[in-house]
Amino acid sequence: MNLRPVILVFDSGVGGLTVFREIVKARPDASYVYVADDAFFPYARRSEEELVGRVVPLMEELIATHMPDLAVIACNTASTLVLPHLRARFALPFIGTVPAIKPACIASRSRLVSVLGTEATVRREYTRGLIRDFGQGCDVTLVGAAHLAGLAERALRDDAIDDDAVAREIAPCFVASGGRRTDTIVLACTHYPLLLDRLVRLAPWPVDWVDPAPAIARRMTDLIGPPTAGAPNGKACAVFTSPLGPPPALAAALARFGIGEAAAAQGAAACPCRPGGSATA
Ligand code: DGL
Repeated sequence: MNLRPVILVFDSGVGGLTVFREIVKARPDASYVYVADDAFFPYARRSEEELVGRVVPLMEELIATHMPDLAVIACNTASTLVLPHLRARFALPFIGTVPAIKPACIASRSRLVSVLGTEATVRREYTRGLIRDFGQGCDVTLVGAAHLAGLAERALRDDAIDDDAVAREIAPCFVASGGRRTDTIVLACTHYPLLLDRLVRLAPWPVDWVDPAPAIARRMTDLIGPPTAGAPNGKACAVFTSPLGPPPALAAALARFGIGEAAAAQGAAACPCRPGGSATA
């Protein structure tokens, strides 16, 4: 492993930033390339064939361009489907993001747990298998949210978000049955922690919201080790696959996450952190 590893963080949009912020805390000395495949967002609306056919060749291009030491697939909708294809195709280590059903079911006291994800993630056989294998006898309610990831995208661009729209999406997570109430909700889409303040405020009653990002950061340091003592912080840049690139409000949000350079990719090869790359910020 390089002394300053290059870590590629991949999502369909800005949701992966909620994973990125945790792994940067664990390895501030690494270099980061954040890739938002926004030209193909939302992944949840794509068929399984389309998604595999999109992500595998895109990853090939990204690996050739950025030569990462590790890739973090910071997207449940992609990880629950594409990870086996990536691992079969590339020698690079991949860390995926999948619904944190096991820790949620261990922690739940009421034994009523909900999994809030995209419609695609809650449909996946992979997710159903996690409930069968790690549900610990809890009653698990799967809730597919059609619009929440899009609302999170808009929130990060400083667009006004309608509270009622958010409340409608999360309402089916709150189950009361036989004197018990849902006490734990798995955030099974990396976009949702971007809305956490609203989720907490709009919840009909208080619950624990389980964000997998800290566990992903721990998995990363298990794989690549802790930071090198005394090493300066590494740089982070972002690549967007749509030709427009991030608007000013989003560029400002990225800067708050520590990403100072962001560019629209001409293919995956244009990157602000490479010589000749097309930095716009
Ligand atoms: N951030 C992605 C996830 O964790 C979902 C958004 C999409 O549908 O593209 O599932």
